[in-house]
Amino acid sequence: MNSDFPGRFRQALGSGVMLVDAPGARDTVLTFARSVVAGLRDQPKRLHCRFLYDAEGSRLFEAITQQPEYYPTRTEAAILAKHAEDIRALTGPRTLVELGSGYSVKTEHLLNAFADDDGALLYVPVDVSDTALRAASRTISENFADVQFTGIKGTYGSALPILRQLSPQLVVFLGSTIGNFNQAEMTAFWRNVAGHLPTGDFFLLGVDLVKDVGVLEAAYNDAAGITARFTKNYLARMNRELGSEIDLDWVEHVATWNSESERIEISLRFTAGQRIHVRPLSEEIDVEAGEQILIEISRKFRLPQLSEELATHGFEVAQTFTDEKEWFALLLLQRMDDAILPRAPLPPPGL
Ligand code: SAH
Ligand code: AVI
Repeated sequence: MNSDFPGRFRQALGSGVMLVDAPGARDTVLTFARSVVAGLRDQPKRLHCRFLYDAEGSRLFEAITQQPEYYPTRTEAAILAKHAEDIRALTGPRTLVELGSGYSVKTEHLLNAFADDDGALLYVPVDVSDTALRAASRTISENFADVQFTGIKGTYGSALPILRQLSPQLVVFLGSTIGNFNQAEMTAFWRNVAGHLPTGDFFLLGVDLVKDVGVLEAAYNDAAGITARFTKNYLARMNRELGSEIDLDWVEHVATWNSESERIEISLRFTAGQRIHVRPLSEEIDVEAGEQILIEISRKFRLPQLSEELATHGFEVAQTFTDEKEWFALLLLQRMDDAILPRAPLPPPGL
């Protein structure tokens, strides 16, 4: 059923199907259970951030974006609103692929600019969250009659094999979600994208920049406590799906700036020891009082270093758009010719 994903996707495009499962998209509970056990058996314990986004997590993330302290969304939205036309003029293609699209709210600025011209526009959002994709499909089909919406439910890595058939295209990765990757994941991600994206195609990348620690820490410790609910929902999801029986009253959200790694680190601190069950795999893991489990990192970037790193993966910065305070940047990248790139074998889809 999951074989020949590019072929199934091509069929969906032709028949107007709005959501397609990428390989592995349906095994969520077992995949989640395996990831949790691997992370909790690691030392120090960790949990993979992609599982933050079940229906409740996706809803809570949208609520985070409305908090006064969480500046990234409104800053990026303002840059997009101002420069969407410039981006269209520079790129031209009538196909937009978006990785980690969520509710596709900010994307509407791009769709407005791209759908302005005559002719149909193809929009292919990719996300692990069924809830977010379904909400986006409803809003976009209501608001944009000329946009064909063909979403992919799955991880970034599992969806990338369709890129070759969508060229020429603009791939969009907003929100500084790239900052949630550690260095090894980021390297694997760019090698994977570079391996699938044809020369000359464009990639629009949103990145949050290094800034004052007070602003950064406030963004991840909002006064209304929505970010704390978002991170604790990870454990609530484990209780719902894995029968983990974690008492959330004995867990605290901790988000601090690590100045050496230039990243916000978000952890869950257990204030009392607890036994965590992972029923689908018949596993139990003990967590001690005082133990902290890293659940998410949010790296912040410096543009010169980032551009250098992107060049090593075959991406040239065609244009940089930023806000007045230089808190956030949108980089319009173009896939360079392979001839100038050292070729390396593709990593497994992973992420
Ligand atoms: N782009 C939106 C949403 C960002 S939240 C914005 O800028 O506001 C991150 C999104 O990425 C969520 O919708 C989440 O479900 C999705 N996501 C997280 N890890 C993912 C993965 N490995 N593959 C695909 N989508 C992922
Ligand atoms: C999706 N991602 C870019 C968010 C961020 O800022 O790193 C996730 C988030 N976690 C807590 N608040 C927001």
